[in-house]
Amino acid sequence: MSDKKTPFSGSPEQEKKLMKVIEDHKDQRGGLMPVLQGAQEIYGYLPLEVQKMVAMGLGISLSEVYGVVTFYSQFSLEPKGKFKVSVCLGTACYVKGADKVLEEVENILEIKAGECTENGLFSIDATRCVGACGLAPVMLVNEDVYGKVTTEEVAGILKKYTDMEA
Ligand code: FES
Repeated sequence: MSDKKTPFSGSPEQEKKLMKVIEDHKDQRGGLMPVLQGAQEIYGYLPLEVQKMVAMGLGISLSEVYGVVTFYSQFSLEPKGKFKVSVCLGTACYVKGADKVLEEVENILEIKAGECTENGLFSIDATRCVGACGLAPVMLVNEDVYGKVTTEEVAGILKKYTDMEA
C-alpha cells in the first residue's frame, strides 16, 4: 500500500441517510452488519470517519466496528473508483499469468491493488475466482468481463474507460 490517501468528504445528505439506517437497526441484535452494508452503499466505502458515526450511533466501541469491517472482505476501507478493475488471482488465472496482468494494471494506473486513483476514476482489486476459469486469466471492469487477457492488452482495455470520460 502506498500512503496516497483520499481525504474523506461526506455530505449532510449522506449523513442523514446513515442516521436513518442506524435508527432502523439500532435495537436489533446483529444490527451492525446491515448498518455497515448500508453505510458502504451510501459512501461507497467505510473510512474511519464513517465507522466512528456507526459506533456512536449504535452505542458500541469503534474497535468492535473496526474489527467487523476488517474481517469481512465485502467491506472496503478505501474508496472505489468509478471503474472498478478486478483481476482474478484464483488458481486457474494465477497459473495463466494473472499476477503479471495485475502488475501491468498497477503500473499503468500508478496505484496498487486496494487503492483508488486520485481522480476517482479507477480502483484496483485482486479477487478470488470469479467462476470464469475457462477464460483465465480474467479481468473485470465493473460488470465487463475480459478473458484470456495478455499484458499487452491491458492498456487498450483501460483506455476504453478513460475515453468514455473524455
Ligand atoms: S480462477 Fe480466475 S476465474 Fe476462476
